[in-house]
Amino acid sequence: MLFIITGTSSGIGLALAEACLEKGHEVIGIARRNHLNHANFTFIACDLTDTIQLEKLDFSTFMKNSNAEAVLVNNAGVIGKIDYTENLSFAHFHKLNLVNITALQWLTSLFLKQVPMARQHSIVHISSGAAQRPIPAWSAYCSSKAAVDMFALTLKEEFKEKGQTTKVYAIAPGVVDTVMQEDIRAADKTNFSSSDKFKEMKRSGDLIPPKKVALKLLQWLEMPQQDVITRFTY
Ligand SMILES: NC(=O)c1ccc[n+]([C@@H]2O[C@H](COP(=O)([O-])OP(=O)(O)OC[C@H]3O[C@@H](n4cnc5c(N)ncnc54)[C@H](OP(=O)(O)O)[C@@H]3O)[C@@H](O)[C@H]2O)c1
Repeated sequence: MLFIITGTSSGIGLALAEACLEKGHEVIGIARRNHLNHANFTFIACDLTDTIQLEKLDFSTFMKNSNAEAVLVNNAGVIGKIDYTENLSFAHFHKLNLVNITALQWLTSLFLKQVPMARQHSIVHISSGAAQRPIPAWSAYCSSKAAVDMFALTLKEEFKEKGQTTKVYAIAPGVVDTVMQEDIRAADKTNFSSSDKFKEMKRSGDLIPPKKVALKLLQWLEMPQQDVITRFTY
């Protein structure tokens, strides 16, 4: 299979790209940075907050070079500054929503335009439990992930209307041991009431290794269409 994955430089996206390559899949990785070097890996440098770079993205050449079924994994995401809404800047809301929503929706649209329908295996959005659970000081993050869930549900209805078999998921991976969690633990706790809870999860060894998420996702994709909104348990 051909995997197009955003955010392959770190955390879940990096672990997923590595797991895909180990299993012999082709991977196209999209991020600002890259640490992977493999014959089946193609890196596209793109800042998902840069609308000019976003509009220039084009998957059609990769489709011509391969006959494999394709999976889009919209994984890149940011949480940004952790604080009450009145303390957040315009740039915070703008950048977070560009990465977490606009880029994800645009890449989905590109995938649907440029990958022949018979080769569209699935579209996976990495959402979060925070889509369904409000966490004070994460207002933009929680609401962006709720938008991702509704985007996935709406796509599923569009596919149903068209008789299209492309699978679509918004997956909450659990609390995963990545740089995003480091940032959460490093946040000023003054206005962040859940701060101690996340620190305690790390201390108790309750964070899920990114590789576990990657392997679960690859297993998941082999199953027939499951619920669109899915919370992984391990
Ligand atoms: N960790 C958790 O506990 C957890 C829980 C639920 C959901 N999630 C979700 O899982 C996904 C992956 O997060 P993670 O925990 O693996 O975080 P991470 O280690 O911080 O990785 C984030 C990835 O997103 C990419 N990214 C961020 N801003 C970007 C930009 N402007 N342009 C291009 N790429 C950008 C980064 O690449 P560059 O910096 O190289 O651009 C990086 O590869 C996110 O959608 C997150 O919301 C995480």
